[in-house]
Amino acid sequence: PSIVYVQPDGSRQTITADVGSTVMATAMAHGVPGIVAECGGSAMCATCHVYVDEGSLAGLPPVSEVEDAMLASAASERRDNSRLSCQLVLAPGMETLVVNIPERQV
Ligand code: FES
Repeated sequence: PSIVYVQPDGSRQTITADVGSTVMATAMAHGVPGIVAECGGSAMCATCHVYVDEGSLAGLPPVSEVEDAMLASAASERRDNSRLSCQLVLAPGMETLVVNIPERQV
């Protein structure tokens, strides 16, 4: 699958990701700016917040209770398409996932 990271200024970076990896880990491995991931992927920090593009929402795992609670304390406004990118695991069959990086994470 490939992930398109869209920065707040509209610039885009497309990265080929491994099945089983996450949107957060792929960003960290490729130095994508704007994803901080202070807790390292444990759904404990909300600094990996992204807005998933409407066209990419289908096929994502549901928001868990822990994720839901963390999203409530995200630094940028929470929206209907807000997710913690460390909880977005790339499944087989996924093609392109477009995520928008919020203005700030802390
Ligand atoms: Fe901390 Fe995702 S990396 S919640």
